[in-house]
Amino acid sequence: MSPGPIPFRLPLENPRVRIVPSFAALVSTPFADGVNALCWPRTLTGDFAEVVAHVTAGDDIATLDDATLRALPLSPAGRAAVEVLIEDQERLRALGLEPVLDCIQRYPQDDADATVPTDVYSFHADSATVATDTFLCSYTEAASEGLRNEEARRCIDVPDTRAALRREFGGADDEAFEAYLRENCYDLHYVALPHARPFSFGLGNFWRIAVDYPGCPVPPCVHRAPATVTGRPPRLLLIS
Ligand SMILES: [Fe+2]
Repeated sequence: MSPGPIPFRLPLENPRVRIVPSFAALVSTPFADGVNALCWPRTLTGDFAEVVAHVTAGDDIATLDDATLRALPLSPAGRAAVEVLIEDQERLRALGLEPVLDCIQRYPQDDADATVPTDVYSFHADSATVATDTFLCSYTEAASEGLRNEEARRCIDVPDTRAALRREFGGADDEAFEAYLRENCYDLHYVALPHARPFSFGLGNFWRIAVDYPGCPVPPCVHRAPATVTGRPPRLLLIS
């Protein structure tokens, strides 16, 4: 069994991650010198599990808007959590972003026998055609996981995987094959090298991570959603 991600604990001793002291620094610090993840560590007060317990089961992913959050019948600790959840979204909205707060029981998942799984449980880089970043914060349950670029390899650079994708593609045209890889997002997914130890983003910490876009000054941050554990409460995740 794999040992699980390295727990979030300061100092991180991870040259890809830089710790920042505030939200303002999280936003204004440029990605440089190979650093592709910024983290504003926080210990939050409030009962986030109580908020999640009020979200009705049934939907795999339920998006919570501010009105829904405010209408929940909560204890003072639950209400304190709601204030944090709304404040965090307002910080991002003030930047012109459109954050989403999701209560996630499980994400859609590719077939187990897919040559390159392209779901969010697979290590991947987010991508965009224009300069942008991903902001995220986990509030309950298992947190998102990161993987140092040194410990990651693109699936399409693994010879056996590339050969299998080539067979699935079926054509001889190299350019068309490259386009096929991009169209299916195969170029954005990674495998962890045998010695790799993914690291946990931890709960309550606000992260800004680098995205794969033309001209990005650093390699993208490789990350994934943690495995879903049946019977556990949903995760609460802010993403923008
Ligand atoms: Fe992602």
